[in-house]
Amino acid sequence: MPLTVIVGVSGGIAAYKSAYLVSALKKKGYEVHVLMTQNALKFVGAVTFETLTGNAVLTDTFERKEEYDVKHVSLAKKADMLIIAPATADILAKAAAGIADDMLTTTLLATSCPVVFAPAMNEAMFADSATQHNVSLLKKRGYYVMDTGQGLLACGDVGSGRMKEPDEIIDFAMHVFKSLHDMAGIRVLVSAGPTREMIDPVRFLSNRSTGKMGYAIAQAAINRGADVTLVSGPVAVEAPLKAKMMHVVSAAEMASQMLRLCKHADIIVMAAAVADYTPETVSSLKIKKGADMTLNLVRTKDILSELGASKKDNQLLMGFAAETHDFEANAKTKMNKKNLDVIALNDVSRSDEGFESDRNNIILYYKDGTSQNLGSESKTILSQHIMDVLKKQYQKMTAR
Ligand code: CTP
Repeated sequence: MPLTVIVGVSGGIAAYKSAYLVSALKKKGYEVHVLMTQNALKFVGAVTFETLTGNAVLTDTFERKEEYDVKHVSLAKKADMLIIAPATADILAKAAAGIADDMLTTTLLATSCPVVFAPAMNEAMFADSATQHNVSLLKKRGYYVMDTGQGLLACGDVGSGRMKEPDEIIDFAMHVFKSLHDMAGIRVLVSAGPTREMIDPVRFLSNRSTGKMGYAIAQAAINRGADVTLVSGPVAVEAPLKAKMMHVVSAAEMASQMLRLCKHADIIVMAAAVADYTPETVSSLKIKKGADMTLNLVRTKDILSELGASKKDNQLLMGFAAETHDFEANAKTKMNKKNLDVIALNDVSRSDEGFESDRNNIILYYKDGTSQNLGSESKTILSQHIMDVLKKQYQKMTAR
């Protein structure tokens, strides 16, 4: 049985590229159906897609072009994959709000298949906080929202906001499809975010970690059907819907949760930025200002080293190395000292990536001496690559 792919076309100039997308999907042997919004019809004619797919293009929920059945429900059930390309700001907003007022949006609500959005719009519209909020809400609900490409936009501006090229959309969608549920039954434990080391009731020592990398890794594992536990320091990021959440504040609390939960994990990713030092004493009263003062700090537990020392057979352990210099040497030393299988080197000297950013740059070093540069990408994409690697390494380890 060929896969059934529905392509939803909404009203943007990139709709002309969807004709190539549909044609390429057909050439790959998929059964393709196209749903268009009223505005999409102003950019490309339905006949183009009907000729390419051999199927009627549906726009209006009450339209009866084919045999009598509740079309949006039957198509929604039949679909193995729904690709919305181009996805305008309007369709992202409707999807986020659950509005269902035409064939595309009703099908979207009714389907349980994986859904990929390929946004296309003016750069400012994409950057607008309403659109960004909708995108993060959709991702949180398990939809796959692609990044946009750079280049000349229809409005004449040069910037980001262009729809990704049709071949990239197909690669992305097929990667999503193949990777779905290939980690079912695998237990993944992830730590994320900073820790807070209290000085007195109102002050603490912490760091710039936002938790975005660890949360993206947890989400990538959830998307592949893994059973995910996320131990998180205090962050402002919304928790992935399907993660078992464990909220902690201090390094000591994170250590006790991680060392307890590690016994039930197959893959452990220590992405948290754990404080290396904590005040020797915590004042129960607010410290009043006076003369200059000295804060005595004592070392916290190195959680990752303890996880490495107690690592079970068939348990895969990954850590991060946040470095500003001597990158490779520092990362490899950490990997060996802490008995890790993989370490992700992170150049934190750059102001545009890493801490407090949606992007990161990562080079992975493996125990066997090899390495892989994942480059500079969004944390979502990097996490998908990291999960690919961890799954393969885990399979190799357990096959022995
Ligand atoms: N880590 C940990 N417990 C700590 C400190 C760090 O588990 N008390 C983990 C981090 O989660 C990360 C890895 O160890 O996965 C490396 O953290 P990093 O801050 O880069 O290095 P440190 O080991 O703290 O060494 P240094 O600060 O000297 O670079």
